[in-house]
Amino acid sequence: MRATAREEPSLPRDASARSYLMCPPAHFRVTYSINPWMDPAKPVDLPLAMAEWGVLRDRYLSLGHTVSFLDPRPGLPDMVYAANGATVVGGRVLGARFAHPQREAEAQAHLDWFRAHGYTDVLDPVHINEGEGDFAVTASFLLAGRGFRSSPLAQDEAQEFFGRPVIGLNLVDPRFYHLDTALCVLDDAADEIMYYPGAFSPGSRTVLARLFPDALLAGEADASAFGLNAVSDGLHVLLPQAAAGLYRPLRERGFEPVGIDLGELLKGGGSVKCCTQELRA
Ligand code: ARG
Repeated sequence: MRATAREEPSLPRDASARSYLMCPPAHFRVTYSINPWMDPAKPVDLPLAMAEWGVLRDRYLSLGHTVSFLDPRPGLPDMVYAANGATVVGGRVLGARFAHPQREAEAQAHLDWFRAHGYTDVLDPVHINEGEGDFAVTASFLLAGRGFRSSPLAQDEAQEFFGRPVIGLNLVDPRFYHLDTALCVLDDAADEIMYYPGAFSPGSRTVLARLFPDALLAGEADASAFGLNAVSDGLHVLLPQAAAGLYRPLRERGFEPVGIDLGELLKGGGSVKCCTQELRA
C-alpha cells in the first residue's frame, strides 16, 4: 500500500509524455448560463482569455507533451472546454452527447476531428455523457460522475465500450456539476486521486474512501477555486493558481504543482482540466 507523505519521505514521481487535445477560445463568450458560475451579465475579456489559454498550451509543450488542436466554431462558445467532447482510452474514442442544446453541436465537431485524424474505433453514444467532464480514468477504473449532466445509462455504455469497470459517483452540489470539478486523477498508473468529498453523496463518499483510502482530500476553498480541475502527467500537476491550499499536500506527495491563471475561462465554469482532453494511446 502506498504510504502518505506525512509518514514517509516523498515518493519518486515520474512524468510521462502525454497527448492532449485543446480548442482555442476564439469564440468564447458567456451568452447563456448552464452552471452556477456562468453570468452572462459579466463581461469576458476575450484577448485575455486567449492569452491565458496560450500560457496553458505553452506549458504543456514546454513539459514535453504533444498538443493537437480542434478548430473553434462560431456559435459554440463553450468549445474551449475540450475535455467534454469525448473520452479516449487505449485509442478508442467514446464520443459525447451533451445535456444542454447550446452545446449539442460540439459532439459532432469532436467526432469529425477523431475520424479525420485516423481514429477508427469511434462510438457515437446513445446516452448523454459529457466526455472527460464526467469520466476519469484511473489504473483500475473508469470513474463516472452523474447527477447534473451525464446519464447513469452512459455508464453501462462506457463499460461495454472500454471493458473497464465503471464506478458511478453521485454529484450533489451544483457548483461541482462535472466530476472533473470535484476529482482529479494524480497518478493514473496507480489509483491515486484527489477530490472534494462535499461534492459527492454520502454513499459515493463511502465508495471513494473504500477505493482510494490514501486520496488527497481537498477543502471547500480549494475546490471552489477549481483546484480539482487539474491535469497531472504523473509528476507535474497543473492547477488553478488560486487553489493555494493544495500546493503543500501535493509537494508532500512528491508532485510538482504548477499554478495556472485561467481567470477568464472560470467565468464559463471551467479551468485547466476542462480545457484539456487527454488522448490516451
Ligand atoms: N460552460 C461549460 C458548461 O457548463 C463549462 C464546461 C466545463 N468543462 C468541464 N470539463 N468541467 O458545460
